[in-house]
Amino acid sequence: MSIQIPRGTQDIRSGDVEKWQLIEAKARELCDLYQYKEIRTPIFEHTELFLRSVGDTTDIVQKEMYTFEDRGGRSITLRPEGTASTVRAFVEHKMFGEANQPVKLYYMGPMFRYERPQAGRFRQFVQFGIEALGSADPAIDAEVISLARHLYQALGLKKLKLVINSLGDKESRNAHREALIEYFRPRIGEFCHDCQNRLEKNPMRILDCKKDHNHELMKSAPSIIDYLNEESKNYFEKVQKYLTALNIPFEIDPNLVRGLDYYNHTAFEIMSDAEGFGSITTLCGGGRYNGLVEEIGGPETPGIGFALSIERFIAALEAESIELSLNKGIDCYVVALGDEAKDYSVSLLQQLRSAGYSAERDYLNRKIKAQFKAADRLQASYVAILGEDELKANKINVKSMKTGEQTELELDQFIDQFTLLNK
Ligand code: HAM
Repeated sequence: MSIQIPRGTQDIRSGDVEKWQLIEAKARELCDLYQYKEIRTPIFEHTELFLRSVGDTTDIVQKEMYTFEDRGGRSITLRPEGTASTVRAFVEHKMFGEANQPVKLYYMGPMFRYERPQAGRFRQFVQFGIEALGSADPAIDAEVISLARHLYQALGLKKLKLVINSLGDKESRNAHREALIEYFRPRIGEFCHDCQNRLEKNPMRILDCKKDHNHELMKSAPSIIDYLNEESKNYFEKVQKYLTALNIPFEIDPNLVRGLDYYNHTAFEIMSDAEGFGSITTLCGGGRYNGLVEEIGGPETPGIGFALSIERFIAALEAESIELSLNKGIDCYVVALGDEAKDYSVSLLQQLRSAGYSAERDYLNRKIKAQFKAADRLQASYVAILGEDELKANKINVKSMKTGEQTELELDQFIDQFTLLNK
């Protein structure tokens, strides 16, 4: 039996990969406009990093990590997300001491979670994410949200919904925590084993449980919004004020708790509102994580960021029937007839490519008709035809595939004259 691809992963081939490249290029372009610099961190890290950051009561850590012992006996984990690694690098390279503050970083690459695969949920997926470290100004919360929205809109998405919440500061969260424990304790026996464990350790995770989310107690559970202290309330109001100033519509969802433990204050998700989009509608998630840098061993530093997956981005484009305009065709296909012309075409191709033209030729000894067919398939703008006679006469025929017009060029001035033809 042949070997097949692992469940929850995919091969991205020509025809689709161009969409990925376009989204990735747009993301880089926007990061340049907003001044986020790329960081590339390893695909695996010490497991401890994710226990400390994502949190040991989360589904990600408890059920979804690809963790293994390496040959040196260390516990290693394939990264399930990018924030932890970015913060680790921030601390390790003492970026808190850099002159330019806040430190604004972005990353793009594969993440790994052992989840049940379904539409929009993969075991290997590619996240694009940004992190702004070193500022507690609510204006940067609005900037982070607006960059995500800008990217979706730049590629044509219209049916977007932004949902925000505040998880408050430490004091607010502690008050909420106590209220949750008191609320759930009398009936915790009705909840799953994980939730029973979460009650004392991290009761907010109960609100996020995939198994118990329909339990009747969930609906009227104490909401964090009612436990925000003055400072947290003010912060949240300022974020809303800036979003309004940026003309970014939003909804407040007091039940939005996010699936990772490091959040406080602003939490947000961007969902697709498109009809027919699968049941997983979250395209992008993020929030503030003041305290995480300290947890990883750095000085007190506020931070905020988001991540989105390219897989769900593409699914949202499909749900809105948006065709990305991909530059598909090549500039020139060289048809060579006869051995000498074929030999010469090797350098012709090189000349074209060196001058910045995409070019292709036949490598299968096909007849002229089949070579023209190949040129058609590649959507060539021009076909350059070189036969033995032309070669001797220092000529080459170039046919425009759009108009059918043929032009004879001097072979030794091919590139210059081809460039004029292209203008
Ligand atoms: P997250 O909500 O776990 O947050 O993931 C962010 C995004 O990654 C999701 O909204 C979704 O687009 C995508 N995603 C997650 N899991 C999958 C999957 N199995 N298949 C396809 N796409 C997936 C984080 O990862 C945080 N690190 C975000 C963040 C950055 N917060 C602050 N800074």
